[in-house]
Amino acid sequence: MAAPVVNAEYLKEIDKARRDLRALIASKNCAPIMLRLAWHDAGTYDVNTKTGGPNGSIRFEEEYSHGSNAGLKIAIDLLEPIKAKHPKITYADLYQLSGVVAVEVTGGPTVNFVPGRRDSSVCPREGCLPDAKQGNQHLRDVFYRMGLSDKDIVALSGGHTLGRAHPERSGFEGPWTKEPLKFDNSYFVELLKGEAEGLLKLPTDKAMLDDPKFRHYVELYAKDEDLFFKDYAESHKKLSELGFTPPTSGTGSKAADVSACTILAQSAVGVVVAAAVVVFSYIYESSKRSK
Ligand code: HEM
Repeated sequence: MAAPVVNAEYLKEIDKARRDLRALIASKNCAPIMLRLAWHDAGTYDVNTKTGGPNGSIRFEEEYSHGSNAGLKIAIDLLEPIKAKHPKITYADLYQLSGVVAVEVTGGPTVNFVPGRRDSSVCPREGCLPDAKQGNQHLRDVFYRMGLSDKDIVALSGGHTLGRAHPERSGFEGPWTKEPLKFDNSYFVELLKGEAEGLLKLPTDKAMLDDPKFRHYVELYAKDEDLFFKDYAESHKKLSELGFTPPTSGTGSKAADVSACTILAQSAVGVVVAAAVVVFSYIYESSKRSK
């Protein structure tokens, strides 16, 4: 499908959708499932074949019915009214924007969002996302296939600071942290503490402690929340842009350029109108005086 035209109007719709998403996520307490939807749409990317990625294809039953996506239809349905209200926005952009807003409204870092993703109707094969029952080699196989790094793997796993597992969806149960609606570094703090009553650790979470490279980041992030937020925001942006070339040129995005141009154009119009008012009042006053 064609890429959306990211002009001033599109950016305005993105801003409005962002506000609608904040309200939806706050009223439904659905930040965790929104983040999981964004990640599962993006996490199918294959850097070699340039297929999959954040392209909205998870909206099709063929994909959302994959075992790893169990439960995500709830998030897809919650987003439909926002899509209907802002039809210009692609599903691909809407799902990623929703993930970004989910992190933001739960107290996490601001993840820079650049719009312009195109929608696809081609669904990836089943089995592209990580299997929680496996270990570190599997994590690397899956994330390297996306073109992501060891640091990205650990930082993004910190997404489990939000939400919980549901036995009927994944066979696992419970939250990773004591406050699953708060985005902080407690996933790493809890991981290092070991088993705790009522808190979940997936085999893939625990496996990270056995690998020196992964463990290094787990320890850093448990100690330093600011560093976690910084790295998380970078990795999340990478994930949300897999296979997507943002309309960027050199120093700034086209999107930003478009909005700067709009502001400049609006200011110029303002100046012209003000000047015209001054000139007309002057002419009017002069003609009154000369009568
Ligand atoms: C590292 C490999 C990963 C594995 C094996 C994994 C596996 C899982 C599993 C099994 C669940 C439970 C689903 C359920 O029962 O509802 C889950 C939930 C979740 N995952 Fe992951 N995940 C991984 C990476 C990520 C990443 C990269 C993110 C986001 C950056 C993420 C965000 C979430 C969130 C927010 C939930 C909670 C959803 C809810 O409360 O409904 N996960 N994950």
